[in-house]
Amino acid sequence: MPERTPFPDLATLDRQVHGCTKCALSATRTKAVPGEGSPTAAIVFIGEGPGYHEDQQGRPFVGPAGHLLDKLLDSIGLKRADVYITNMVKCRPPNNRDPFPGEIQACSGYMDEQLRLIGPKVVVTLGRHSFGKFFPGDTISKARGRPRQWNGWTIFPIYHPAAALHNPGLMPDLQADFQKLAAMLQGPAAEPVKETADQSQQLSLF
Ligand code: URA
Ligand code: SF4
Repeated sequence: MPERTPFPDLATLDRQVHGCTKCALSATRTKAVPGEGSPTAAIVFIGEGPGYHEDQQGRPFVGPAGHLLDKLLDSIGLKRADVYITNMVKCRPPNNRDPFPGEIQACSGYMDEQLRLIGPKVVVTLGRHSFGKFFPGDTISKARGRPRQWNGWTIFPIYHPAAALHNPGLMPDLQADFQKLAAMLQGPAAEPVKETADQSQQLSLF
């Protein structure tokens, strides 16, 4: 259904998301959060799912993690309006629990269509959930900061800003990855990275 039907534009997709009942999260949401930003953005950021503030406002990343994201964007001379920001699931999981695999699956057609309509140069996954959609089983702590190819997209995995708020030790890596992102926008997409066996032993972080 929606994942099989191409949307003509982002506004049509947004309307569909606001009325979506494809998974149980529709029953507990206040507002759906389709995403926002430039329809021709070179970067699409993908978070996990709306939290309390996002659910109240119907906008992505407007709480503490969003404020940090704004600062990180500012550090490379970008504003929200220059990029596109969305989430794996468009409705808030109750009490901010992790989205269930079935919910991510039910919602994934919207994200696929957003990427198709926007056509970004780089898809930045924030944290392990959105990274895991593209590369299940790999660990974010080892994968972060290195671009990879997936279905023709350049995926750039980085820590979730909320993880860096919980654990300030992650902040230097997050800041460095934004600098790298800025450099990637200047040049051609980087070569994909080949993982080695020992890299799968790393601790899983947010
Ligand atoms: N965290 C997320 O993953 N997404 C949001 O929109 C806000 C916080
Ligand atoms: Fe629909 Fe996605 Fe919301 Fe589930 S999370 S109701 S699939 S928009």
